[in-house]
Amino acid sequence: MRVARCIAYATLIAVAGCQSNHSSLTAAGPQAKKIEWLYWVIFWISLIVFVLVIAFFAGGVAKSRIDEAEMAPVLPQDEERDRPAKGAVSIAIAITVVTLFVVLVLSIVTGKSAAGLTSNNPITIEVIGHQWWWEARYPSPQADLTAVTANEIHLPVGKPIIILTASRDVIHSFWAPNLNGKRDLMPGYQTAFSFQVDTAGIYRGQCAEYCGEQHAHMGFEIVAEPADQFDAWLQQQRKPAIDTTDATALRGREVFLTHACVLCHTIRGTEAGSKVGPDLTHVATRRMIAAATLSNAPGSLAGWITDPQRIKPGARMPANPLDPDDLQALITYLRDLQ
Ligand code: CUA
Repeated sequence: MRVARCIAYATLIAVAGCQSNHSSLTAAGPQAKKIEWLYWVIFWISLIVFVLVIAFFAGGVAKSRIDEAEMAPVLPQDEERDRPAKGAVSIAIAITVVTLFVVLVLSIVTGKSAAGLTSNNPITIEVIGHQWWWEARYPSPQADLTAVTANEIHLPVGKPIIILTASRDVIHSFWAPNLNGKRDLMPGYQTAFSFQVDTAGIYRGQCAEYCGEQHAHMGFEIVAEPADQFDAWLQQQRKPAIDTTDATALRGREVFLTHACVLCHTIRGTEAGSKVGPDLTHVATRRMIAAATLSNAPGSLAGWITDPQRIKPGARMPANPLDPDDLQALITYLRDLQ
């Protein structure tokens, strides 16, 4: 019974892994497909090696039992008897070395071809790591048209994407396994890598380099969508924040501009221009907040604003004990920032 249950759970986990939006075994683009191919090659080689080792081990045990049963005399030094065994060991070592060499060459070739930069009219996105969130910038020749978002990176399907990485504090690592391998973000050092997404969908990414106490909650989402949807999204993100007319939202804006919020966040089109925390100009368009930790709903927004330390201890955002009416107004305003 217990074995059956174990097998059922293992199957469930395996199936869930196969369909995941955070798995290198569900490749969504050409670079990830190369990595997935390499995974399966190594998997099958390892499986064959495992089966062979177990088979020889079992054969050896069986043979030693027969020898014992027949009480064959075992001499400590018997050149004649040991010769076939020595030959077998030499052949096994040779096969192991060749196999490891083949795997090494395949890994290097796959790594190189997955990391290669494409130059066919790519989309360039700057990704900057912060403790513990991601800033994504879509540069424009006109500085005030640069779109800045956080923890949610939109991409058009079927177009080469170039990601320029940097970090503001410590080393982070950008990892969206459905799209490509890991890429470190180094303070004071910009790197570039490229990939393409061929299947529309929402993919989960995660910081893959330990960067402090909230490393595990440094997630992000990649939204891969058809080109027209992406263009519409980008055009919206390039605009300044909407000029709200709703009385509650206006009060919320006042709360934002007169409390601690303004010391860290930008809302383009208002006086708020600090770059310490995420740009909130279009925060209402995002699916999640707090680096893909919470859904972007009024309740979680209220919890996050009031006491972020309870949700992500150590996060750079301080607690904001607001008057309930002020909090309500602030949330109305933030929910308006489409
Ligand atoms: Cu950033 Cu781990």
